Amino acid sequence: MSGTVGWGIAGCGWVARDHALPALLSDPGARVVALHDRDPAALARMPVEGAHRSTDLAGFLATPGLDAVYVAVPNAAHRPLVEAAAAAGKAVLCEKPLAADVADARAVVTAARDAGVLLGTAYDQRWHPAHVRLRELVPELGTVTAVRVVYCCWLPADWTPDGRPHDNWRVDPVRAGGGAAIDLAPHGLDLAGVLLGEDVVELSARLQTRVHDYGVDDGALLTGTTAGGVLVGLHVAFNTPDALPRRRLEVVGTRGMAVAVDTMGQTAGGSLTLYRPGPVDVPFAGTSPFQAQFAAFTAAVAGRARWPYDPARDLALHRLLLTALSGGPA
Ligand SMILES: NC(=O)c1ccc[n+]([C@@H]2O[C@H](COP(=O)([O-])OP(=O)(O)OC[C@H]3O[C@@H](n4cnc5c(N)ncnc54)[C@H](O)[C@@H]3O)[C@@H](O)[C@H]2O)c1
Repeated sequence: MSGTVGWGIAGCGWVARDHALPALLSDPGARVVALHDRDPAALARMPVEGAHRSTDLAGFLATPGLDAVYVAVPNAAHRPLVEAAAAAGKAVLCEKPLAADVADARAVVTAARDAGVLLGTAYDQRWHPAHVRLRELVPELGTVTAVRVVYCCWLPADWTPDGRPHDNWRVDPVRAGGGAAIDLAPHGLDLAGVLLGEDVVELSARLQTRVHDYGVDDGALLTGTTAGGVLVGLHVAFNTPDALPRRRLEVVGTRGMAVAVDTMGQTAGGSLTLYRPGPVDVPFAGTSPFQAQFAAFTAAVAGRARWPYDPARDLALHRLLLTALSGGPA
């Protein structure tokens, strides 16, 4: 492919408007050619000139110059959009979690494989500059024994990202597939594997619905073990006030420990400290995880670089998570 990559956004809600679109607009290798949402008001709120806007999926996919589709609809709606985009020959970057259940996630990966198109999961935390730097520091920690992640927030039933009335599908067990755990744990689970170079292969979960009045978990503790024996612990929650310390990532080894505070999230902020044993601030620089993620996927679609993550591996992690959340085999 020559020239810029033509992107379409399917699902023009919070993450697409506030994080994906700015990332794409800042990338000289990308141009946004098409937008799709079933809600015309959501389409109208996307601040981009010249893109074809359509509530009709077929019309969206037929937009001339469309090369890649970013899927950012609620979890249970990922599958039909990915299947349609893949069948139309488009590369697909699908938001996490891959789907609301295992069967749909498998279908997502199969659709891309059968169509021969590139599929990526939008685990944006892989691309945070602090996490990229932390990955380089891991060999300095000695034998890594544990990864501990806290990724929590406040998400009541009437939560809205921007003050406008919002359809809070995140607390709908059918459309989300669960609550805090399926929404937030995929990030830490993916990140642990990316940082260590080996994935969690055994996982169990304890769920709570303690604070909010809804039918999904509002908090969870997950414990896992990687193939090489590293312990991985995740605390994720919708029941922690945002004003409290609530985002922390620790990698613990026999010679040192790395601690990232307030890095888990959509922006490039936060801090990184290395303890060996005394604390040293570790500088990091880079774009937002969304910018880096879209730049990498755009480069892969353009044939300038390889997308380094296998969808089969992302599917295996999704299956592991959902098996743990259901308390039994998926
Ligand atoms: N990587 C991250 O940091 C991150 C952050 C937020 C959300 N997400 C993921 O992104 C996805 C969207 O989340 P959000 O917070 O932006 O949701 P949202 O509710 O703000 O936006 C979803 C949009 O999809 C549209 N929509 C719903 N069903 C549709 C369908 N069948 N066809 C077309 N449009 C449809 C809605 O009208 C809405 O505009 C979810 O999978 C979520 O897990 C990821």
